[in-house]
Amino acid sequence: MDDVVGLVGRDRQLDRAEAIVAKGSNLLVTGRAGIGKSAFLRALFERARAGGRPCVWVPEGNTRSSVIDLARQVHETVGLRVPEEVIPTRWRAQARRTGRVEWARIERTVARRPSRDNMAMIAGSLKGHRALVFIESLEVPPSQAEFYAVLPDVAQLVAAMDSRNTRVRIQRLLWRFQEQIELQPLDAAASRAIAERWLGSHTVRFETDRVREAFLKAVAQDSGGVPTAIEGMLSKAATEPEVTRSSVREFTHEAGVRYIDMTPTIVVGFVAVIAGRYIARGLDSMELYVLSGIGIALFLGLRFAMGRMSR
Ligand SMILES: Nc1ncnc2c1ncn2[C@@H]1O[C@H](COP(=O)(O)OP(=O)(O)OP(=O)(O)O)[C@@H](O)[C@H]1O
Ligand SMILES: [Mg+2]
Repeated sequence: MDDVVGLVGRDRQLDRAEAIVAKGSNLLVTGRAGIGKSAFLRALFERARAGGRPCVWVPEGNTRSSVIDLARQVHETVGLRVPEEVIPTRWRAQARRTGRVEWARIERTVARRPSRDNMAMIAGSLKGHRALVFIESLEVPPSQAEFYAVLPDVAQLVAAMDSRNTRVRIQRLLWRFQEQIELQPLDAAASRAIAERWLGSHTVRFETDRVREAFLKAVAQDSGGVPTAIEGMLSKAATEPEVTRSSVREFTHEAGVRYIDMTPTIVVGFVAVIAGRYIARGLDSMELYVLSGIGIALFLGLRFAMGRMSR
């Protein structure tokens, strides 16, 4: 969505991130699912590339495909140092003469090699180039984390990670990041600005101007400032033949609630009912005891239901 509306409401943090990158530190960008980590990294990537730094992007995906994609980008930015056996025989003489070979000519042999060898080739090629490597997601299996572990020795890193990442192997990589930026939900004005800009380039029919206004307000509030939630509401609006007052209420709420973090409320509530149980015993109050018992049952049920919903 940021390709349509631009990156909204992140200027200050982008400046901070740029300063961190300029001073040479590795940067970890964290935040909950859908908060805009990838979009933030992309914006930073564009800025750094425009500033003349060699930049490569490790996309989210399986090890094999992301390593091959990384090899291609390294080849196109700083040039891969390929072992001769990677170059098909008929191109070898030319490669020896010119010192270069086109990606299209080595792509197939590179793709056939084990990822481990390719990763070593990539690391060897990045060395000494002051390259910036952007890792779109650290939500990766251990084998992939191991490949990434060679990167901080040969390049500067910017990576995105879900705040709730519990992958064990990634820990070894995490201590290499000197700086961290945690992305917070956007404020209401930014959320609204996204919706307004988006509506500027999409045709959505509203029953009346007041409905349009109600929709924008609902987006700003119910999204909780999470761009993915905003996106959900906007695309839902686009599928309606006409957005009416009642449809606004329906779908903005539906899309929003899923992204609002209820955990603190639930924890506080749970503590309250447990405490209620003990207070009831202390006061010898049967009513309070039964009430907090029901409270506990309700909370356990709610937790179970929410666990299923978020899956
Ligand atoms: N500040 C922003 N302004 C406008 N659009 C944004 C902004 N941040 C994110 N978006 C858009 O919101 C959507 C979700 O963002 P993004 O994919 O970057 O989130 P994420 O945190 O990487 O999600 P995930 O946790 O799933 O990886 C994308 O379509 C993106 O373009
Ligand atoms: Mg992402």
